[in-house]
Amino acid sequence: MTLKNRRGASLINFNLNRFLLGLSFAIDCVESELLGSTSNHGKRVAAVSMRMARAMGLSDSQVFDIASLAILHDNGLAEESLTHVRPEADRLYHVEDLPAHCTIGEHNAAKFPFQTDCFESIRFHHEHWDGSGFFGISGDKIPIMAQIISLADYTDLKFRFQTPDPGNRDRIAMFLNENSGSIFSPDLVDLFHQISKVPAFWFDLRDPFIHAALDRTMPECSMESDWQGVLDISRVFSRIIDSKSRFTLRHTQGLEEKIDHMAGHYRVATEERLQLRIAASLHDVGKLAIPNAILDKPGSLTDAERYKVTEHTYYTRLCLEPIPGFENITEWAANHHEKLGGGGYPMGLGKKDLDFNARLMTVLDIYQALTEERPYRQSLSHQQSMAIIGKLRDNGDVDGEIVGDVDRVFS
Ligand SMILES: [Fe+2]
Ligand SMILES: [Fe+2]
Ligand SMILES: [Fe+2]
Ligand SMILES: [Fe+2]
Repeated sequence: MTLKNRRGASLINFNLNRFLLGLSFAIDCVESELLGSTSNHGKRVAAVSMRMARAMGLSDSQVFDIASLAILHDNGLAEESLTHVRPEADRLYHVEDLPAHCTIGEHNAAKFPFQTDCFESIRFHHEHWDGSGFFGISGDKIPIMAQIISLADYTDLKFRFQTPDPGNRDRIAMFLNENSGSIFSPDLVDLFHQISKVPAFWFDLRDPFIHAALDRTMPECSMESDWQGVLDISRVFSRIIDSKSRFTLRHTQGLEEKIDHMAGHYRVATEERLQLRIAASLHDVGKLAIPNAILDKPGSLTDAERYKVTEHTYYTRLCLEPIPGFENITEWAANHHEKLGGGGYPMGLGKKDLDFNARLMTVLDIYQALTEERPYRQSLSHQQSMAIIGKLRDNGDVDGEIVGDVDRVFS
């Protein structure tokens, strides 16, 4: 039996764990870009924070929330103005030194369905116990989840928890002791020493094991939701994606509006229409893994840079595929650079693999992009955009009927 809400919309059992873990890959890529290396930073901060929260006796809902907050804690770094701060090797320290990423991050994550009251935990994740942090909050006035995340975050940034060298553990212990009572709460430092005694604590934090460790230790969190609710949660991430570059500030939102408009034109049923909007809102989530130096480059891209860009829809698939119920959404979102003739990327799919909604997404993504300003050109008018899309149709790359419909509807 399908459950319905009061408005008669079908309810799905939405698995927030899968959703969050899927998208954590993209969020962690933002920091990888700043560090210039692969990173599971958000996941490691989440694993350590969860262990501390459990040892303190926090509830399952609180443990789930602290994992979500830890995964999302640095989402504000995606904002373009922050990623362009300084080009030195230790950029992350510089951008993390800006309180703006805390405020932006808190704002972006505000609509995430946290299970408990954990207000301002992202905003205050750089506060110090003695009040010397960004916002001057001290001691127990700092939300407890922010205190825990701060300890895990600070320590991972400085020492990289995944380093197998046993000497690293001693350095971490020394660092925490030296800063107990100044940066960190003395009670939390003691708690860290307790939970980090067992070797498995450290094994879990190594790159090959961290994903499985999180999956194993995160409390199950599913919610009965209609597709509108899932769209609202997806928008938390579309906000982060759009903030990455000033040239794409409205790209995701604009595509979502256009696909909704066309779905109305085709009289698509409500639930499918909402799923299309979710696919639109997440279609470029993989762009979080592509450096701004490429996305915002004013001139033409080199072959290597163009190749790098093709990775983004592969990453979109990686993020969305594991989410139960997202089977169609994944196809519509991740195939938006495929072409009917098989010359697209990343999989070189063809006509038989691309259903109507996937084809619609492709045409609208191109249309949306052409009508936006880019670093190397001004925004194009409807006529100019349709002339370019018409050539793609003549080439057999995109669906001719959809192109005609888009032309009529948006002219
Ligand atoms: Fe931070
Ligand atoms: Fe961080
Ligand atoms: Fe794209
Ligand atoms: Fe796009």
